[in-house]
Amino acid sequence: MTPQVLTSIAPLRDRVAEARRTGLAVGLVPTMGALHAGHLRLIEQARLECGCVVVSIFVNPLQFDRKDDLDRYPRPLQADVAVCASSGVNIIFAPTVEEMYPEEAECTVDLGPIADHLCGRYRPGHFRGMATVVLKLLQIVQPDRAYFGEKDAQQLAVIRHLARDFNVPVSIEGVPTVRDTDGVALSSRNQGLSPEERVLARSLYRALSEAERHIAAGERDSQRVTEAAGLLLPQDDRLRLEYLEVVDPKNLQTVDRIEGPALVAGALWIGSTRLIDNLLCSPSAMSAVATPSGN
Ligand code: PAJ
Repeated sequence: MTPQVLTSIAPLRDRVAEARRTGLAVGLVPTMGALHAGHLRLIEQARLECGCVVVSIFVNPLQFDRKDDLDRYPRPLQADVAVCASSGVNIIFAPTVEEMYPEEAECTVDLGPIADHLCGRYRPGHFRGMATVVLKLLQIVQPDRAYFGEKDAQQLAVIRHLARDFNVPVSIEGVPTVRDTDGVALSSRNQGLSPEERVLARSLYRALSEAERHIAAGERDSQRVTEAAGLLLPQDDRLRLEYLEVVDPKNLQTVDRIEGPALVAGALWIGSTRLIDNLLCSPSAMSAVATPSGN
């Protein structure tokens, strides 16, 4: 099945309305393209739950804090259409920048403290731009469900708050992170890594796994957890750790003592590529490992 590729809002709305008239639930998977197996997991989940799956492909200028990053973001539209065709997507919405942001557009979304920490601290305006485009996509498509990856945990949390606070009638679905065999989370940004940098990229997942191991072993002090995890990052001029933190998974505020589920999140620069990743460490895992075997 070849999905319909629509670049304007009006025909997209007509097409979605037609699907809805036939009784189909509508699922939206927002993306910036350069689709990989992580995106496909979102599409698969949407297909399981919705009769009409819309994938949006839009490299959103509003959420880039660096022009060079925006300029070099991959845009392989034809390959993306082929990927969507082979994965049962019904509609692709690939608008132009002018369609999404006509000259008179001036309103953006103002976010609360959830956007201040982690990536928000280092990428000014990023979450405001991301939330603005997601709110627009939700208004344009008006899906029953919208799918987002847990890999971008802060993004997912911001979107959950956005939908709640603006009463958007949509169910926000989080989908687990898809990883390469060496643990590295799949990301369109991995394409920017040289083969040697790709090897160095493993260190972020290793550090997060080390943090998870310490929490599972009963460590409650966040600082000791992140210090131990940081030791797994090799001394290399190409690596620069932006942050490695233990936060509350719901509001993303820093926690000093780990008393319940904790999200360990990190951002690591490798050369000129910035990678993010996270692991959710659950209290049940803590007690399971902390309990001596044979009990
Ligand atoms: P993009 O980076 O293209 O990601 C689109 C969706 O795919 C996001 O929800 C992201 O969390 C999810 N995703 C990416 N890599 C994943 C992986 N390895 N496993 C599981 N899910 C993964 O995130 C964006 O685009 C944009 O900010 C967007 C939400 C589209 C707004 O512009």
